[in-house]
Amino acid sequence: MTLLHGLEESTDMPAISHRLLDWYERHRRDLPWRQTREPYAIWVAEIMLQQTRVDTVIGYYERFLLRFPTLDALAEAPLDDVLKAWEGLGYYARARNLHAAARMIHNELDSRLPRSLENLQRLPGVGRYTAAAIASIAFGQDALALDGNLRRVLCRIFSIDDDPGRPSTQRRLEALGLAMLPPGRASDFNQALMDLGALVCTPSRPRCLICPLMNLCQAQQEGIQEALPIRATRTFRPHRDVTAGVIYDQQGKFLITRRPLDGLLGGLWEFPGGKRRPGERLVACLRREIIEELAIEIEIGDLLCRVEHSFTHFFMTLYAYRCEWLGGEPQCLGCDDLRWVTLDQLDAFPFPVADQKIIATLRDGAPSRNR
Ligand code: ADE
Repeated sequence: MTLLHGLEESTDMPAISHRLLDWYERHRRDLPWRQTREPYAIWVAEIMLQQTRVDTVIGYYERFLLRFPTLDALAEAPLDDVLKAWEGLGYYARARNLHAAARMIHNELDSRLPRSLENLQRLPGVGRYTAAAIASIAFGQDALALDGNLRRVLCRIFSIDDDPGRPSTQRRLEALGLAMLPPGRASDFNQALMDLGALVCTPSRPRCLICPLMNLCQAQQEGIQEALPIRATRTFRPHRDVTAGVIYDQQGKFLITRRPLDGLLGGLWEFPGGKRRPGERLVACLRREIIEELAIEIEIGDLLCRVEHSFTHFFMTLYAYRCEWLGGEPQCLGCDDLRWVTLDQLDAFPFPVADQKIIATLRDGAPSRNR
């Protein structure tokens, strides 16, 4: 009980849970993964919802389940098809892990998703939060799905001004959340807190006047709800210039390469190229990258387009050039696979968002800037 610091005594936990569940009954968001009890579908949703907004996920989720309606269908599909269905959703390791986990469950667990928190966390791509979300929503277990949104809401309810990113704060929030959780109601309780965080207890300008926890929330009573949770200082995101070549052969086909499976955007296809070194000219960078990656010689022509893109850890400006293949048989030195393709064949391959913008430029037939 030391983790609770007496907060369970100074706060009316049963009243909070009661009001929360009552509010959820009336105001819950009508989301597609809430219309199923199928563990596979709930698992897919929870993986998609990692670091991604609900509005973005809905369309992907519905298309994904049409394309892969069962765990067996997913396990039997090629990785390229799974990445294609994930194209644009980002954090592609999630798709690779989901696919690998589906194969594992299909081959070793009789196609049945594990039920316990511990066994769920053995699946690739399933951490503590996602295991708790699946265990509670799909299997009704009393687990707390503590993500960044729940941390914010709990920090405010209990007026906690410690850094929510610290493990000690997380243990404390988990203990408080579990102490509030009415046994047998974890699915609704977790999703009620998620909806409260999304609709009312928003990061900035929380809507306390319509909050079901009005007068029970300690931060609101103290008038400090906007100051909580305290924010850790943002880490600096560097900027990188990256070049890419649309390298044509004499028949008008061009080269695409597949990124190694284990890195950023792993398994996706792209136009070959790479990062500019300090002081290096863009065309020199592209020529060097193409030799290192494919061991071919190219002539670099016009700039086709410039694309700005932000990743979690850096910002990128991608410069795509039209190129001619001069000689040398392309070899996969820095990539996983390569193909010569026409514009019409590109739809079958999963590409990162930045490369899709290059494709859009090629389809338009006109050079452009940051389209
Ligand atoms: N975010 C993560 N899981 C969610 C869920 N089940 N409902 C709404 N938002 C979520």
